[in-house]
Amino acid sequence: MCGIVGYVGKRDALPIVVEALRRMEYRGYDSAGVAIVDDSGHLMVDKRAGRLENLDAALAAHPAGSFAGTTGMGHTRWATHGRPTDRNAHPHVSADGKAAVVHNGIIENFAPLRAEVEAAGIEFSSDTDTETAVHLLALEYDGGEHAGDFIGSAYAVLRRLEGAFTLVFTHADHPGTIVAARRSTPLVVGVGDGEMFVGSDVAAFIEHTRDAVELGQDQVVVITADDYTITDFDGVSQQGKPFHIDWDLAAAEKGGHDFFMLKEIAEQPQALADTLLGHFENGRVVLDEQRLSDGDLREIDKVFVVACGTAYHAGMLAKYAIEHWTRVPVEVELASEFRYRDPVLDRSTLVVAISQSGETADTLEAVRHAKEQKALVLAICNTNGAQIPREADAVLYTHAGPEIGVASTKCFLAQIAATYLVGLALAQARGTKYPDEVAREYADLERMPDAVAEVLKTGPAVRDLAQSLADVNTVLFVGRHVGYPVALEGALKLKELAYIHAEGFAAGELKHGPIALLEDDLTVIVIMPSPSGRAVLHSKMVSNIREIQARGARTIVIAESGDDAVRPLADHLIEIPQCSTLLQPLVSTVPLQIFAAALAQSRGYDVDKPRNLAKSVTVE
Ligand code: M6R
Repeated sequence: MCGIVGYVGKRDALPIVVEALRRMEYRGYDSAGVAIVDDSGHLMVDKRAGRLENLDAALAAHPAGSFAGTTGMGHTRWATHGRPTDRNAHPHVSADGKAAVVHNGIIENFAPLRAEVEAAGIEFSSDTDTETAVHLLALEYDGGEHAGDFIGSAYAVLRRLEGAFTLVFTHADHPGTIVAARRSTPLVVGVGDGEMFVGSDVAAFIEHTRDAVELGQDQVVVITADDYTITDFDGVSQQGKPFHIDWDLAAAEKGGHDFFMLKEIAEQPQALADTLLGHFENGRVVLDEQRLSDGDLREIDKVFVVACGTAYHAGMLAKYAIEHWTRVPVEVELASEFRYRDPVLDRSTLVVAISQSGETADTLEAVRHAKEQKALVLAICNTNGAQIPREADAVLYTHAGPEIGVASTKCFLAQIAATYLVGLALAQARGTKYPDEVAREYADLERMPDAVAEVLKTGPAVRDLAQSLADVNTVLFVGRHVGYPVALEGALKLKELAYIHAEGFAAGELKHGPIALLEDDLTVIVIMPSPSGRAVLHSKMVSNIREIQARGARTIVIAESGDDAVRPLADHLIEIPQCSTLLQPLVSTVPLQIFAAALAQSRGYDVDKPRNLAKSVTVE
């Protein structure tokens, strides 16, 4: 995905656009660029590969007073078509230097359109699909049916594009006007006082206005300093969805931490408490925009959970809880595999789509596939108004606040809590748990923010341990039952942040192959089941640790305080608070997040922006 901003107003656009890019850099950071139109009709563009600092430096080298103008747009890129180079960075400009475009998404029919542009004698200066759009705009504006009409030309181009895209156009002959459109990727309008913004998300303009309008699917917005007009791609008037942004600006800042991720790890007790807040009223579990009646929930005979990455690990945990509480079979599937497998779905299937961003293309397509098969879709999402909740039948929002670090942390915990609420709501509707049992499970959940606050106190010791292991090449993670998804999540965090070979295994699988990897000093992180849970899980895991130690590996054991059986077997012991088996992942994951971040930091990596990644992945 990429971050996009557009500004029209009375102030100097450049600092506003650059600051917006800084706030949206989490959306992609392969390259960044700006385009400014001044009041005398000049278009100025600069764009650079790499982090935003490279663009800052390039802009600083321009003579003072250049790049002055009150219309501007910017882009921060996560590359899809074309390598992350200066020439492939956005904005892309027409051959006459007058029109510019920035783009998030993919123009799927770019190949025939590019051939058409080249046949008109225009040479491309990038390898991107995006550049096609700006040349088409210029051809239309210069001699097409809408000659001299910027807005009409933009609409004509938009009608020809296929794929998923947000596009923003500007034109040197029309300072004070920006045309933007969305199809399947996000775009919001910021309504200021004598100034208007468009952005991929509200972070683009939160500093300047709290009044926003969400654009719907296949809508176009034309902004000027004082007005905005929304239509469909044919120019037919449409309504946007106005909303007020209640995020605190500080919530989107680092709050004294070196990285957003560290702040987000620290915010987990609050994220969990806010996600649970208001979901138990008058003795019943209630979901937000449920739009599914108890009758609907009673009809369900199968649940699919679809998600990617960390959200998928939350989905794996949902399976343990929902099956245990409801006796309804639950399948968990990677969203990218789901629709290609022809899963068996019908009206009595509930598909739970988990996505922090609500934009992930794989998950969105899985939702669409489920809906085509007439299944009921419930989205669990952290981003208001994103595409996945828009298309789902019902929504349960995680209220974790903005998650800026690319590695998901607080949203993972919030997703686990949200899926557990779904499990309890299902159990309640289907009568597989008595009301007092549901109330007890909910009360246990409500105690978890304090337990997470407690486990955060292990931070300094975990960080010291991680720093002492900064040179390791491989780390294995093993867990049983709910500890298995935690092992996968711990390995994912370490891979994506520290670029270390890390793998998670179900402990019982060790003897079926992975045990061959064990050797002297290999680091193995073991997630111990709760000793107060099923005794067999605990004792089998103790045996697994003995097997690991016998082969010379170094064990880091995450175990509940008071788990004395495991103490002599651990080279390093990280103690977590006692809690019930299903809730243990909410605390056992936290040291693994801290471990991965600290190890990455001691290797000198930027934990907010790991290489090759983007916060949400809007391509399949
Ligand atoms: O926005 P989503 O929850 O749909 O994103 C899913 C994954 O891309 C995401 O969890 C990814 O795996 C994170 N980088 C993991 O830390």
